[in-house]
Amino acid sequence: MENELTTNHLNFNGQVALVTGAGRGLGREHALLLAARGCKVVVNDLGKAYDGTGSAEGQVADEVVELIRSAGGEAVANYDSVEEGERIVESVLAAYGRLDIVVNNAGILTPEVWSELTLESWQRTINVNLTGVFSVMKAAWPVFVEQKYGRCIMTSSPAIFGAGVAAYAASKAGVIGLANSLQFEAKKLKLDIKCNILVPQADTRMTRDFGTAIDQRRLEQGKSAARSVPEEVMQRLSPDKVSAMVVWLAHSSCDAEASMHEAGGGYFAQLRWARSAPLYATEIEGVDGAPVPENVRDGRQTLTDFESGDMPLSGDGSMGSPSALERVFAHLKSPPEV
Ligand SMILES: NC(=O)c1ccc[n+]([C@@H]2O[C@H](COP(=O)([O-])OP(=O)(O)OC[C@H]3O[C@@H](n4cnc5c(N)ncnc54)[C@H](O)[C@@H]3O)[C@@H](O)[C@H]2O)c1
Repeated sequence: MENELTTNHLNFNGQVALVTGAGRGLGREHALLLAARGCKVVVNDLGKAYDGTGSAEGQVADEVVELIRSAGGEAVANYDSVEEGERIVESVLAAYGRLDIVVNNAGILTPEVWSELTLESWQRTINVNLTGVFSVMKAAWPVFVEQKYGRCIMTSSPAIFGAGVAAYAASKAGVIGLANSLQFEAKKLKLDIKCNILVPQADTRMTRDFGTAIDQRRLEQGKSAARSVPEEVMQRLSPDKVSAMVVWLAHSSCDAEASMHEAGGGYFAQLRWARSAPLYATEIEGVDGAPVPENVRDGRQTLTDFESGDMPLSGDGSMGSPSALERVFAHLKSPPEV
């Protein structure tokens, strides 16, 4: 690809990225931007409906490959499901001989609310959104370790904070724990491997088709169809406005570790965990040394005091230094004055 970038631009010359679910939506934009910055890209997509049903239409991946090549970039398609991580990584290595970046983007969203959610639908969601990431990272990890280098991005969702899609929310919370754990492993090995988390918001096939399914349900229930996000707002949420964050997290100069970043419509923010002030009840008025529920009830003020707490980092074992467990042990060795 014609490289008209200045030295100030983040470029990926010589690097190889795998972007899963890159045939459309967010993944497509991540793939296009990485390729525009000189990265060779494997465009993985088996082409399914937004809820993971329907027959595979792998040509969505071909279309993105064609776009990249016609702009002078390098890309190949892969049509395997992310549940077949080993096959995907084999195809990356066969095409380019290395793998520097994995953008775990493929995902499905099943529209059932909790009362309608079936085990089949739960499993379909978990299989793609969580086990799929496991499968791809399990295969990519030895390559990262061998190279002593890698960048991995997980795609979570604002749904983790509670939305009417329990299976999806659970799967998207799961990838956060996985990213934190992989970052922990990388630190243990002292390797330049970074795993970070994207929490995106964009107008894509997924959000459109999901909105239509919700409207349909409301109409069937005799309610008015009312999209939660107005059309004029949707139109400002094009997926290309998210990819800058992914490309930054994918770069060798990115020092973020197990961080969570929101991105949508040109808005970016980092999310962190917060720990309240500690409540030590054991030695105060417990029974036989064990706290009683009243200790917790009466300590609510402390437990909601985040001003005196801290913001532990992810990917750091038990979250922060000292970790929660270390605090407990320290407290047990020297209980506070009562
Ligand atoms: N759009 C949003 O607002 C939003 C919000 C939060 C999270 N996300 C997440 O972002 C990611 C991309 O979503 P999108 O909105 O672009 O959705 P999309 O439906 O437009 O695109 C997802 C792509 O993933 C592919 N895919 C599905 N199952 C696959 C599998 N098993 N193997 C390989 N590819 C598969 C689909 O064929 C599709 O092309 C998903 O993980 C989604 O959960 C999106």
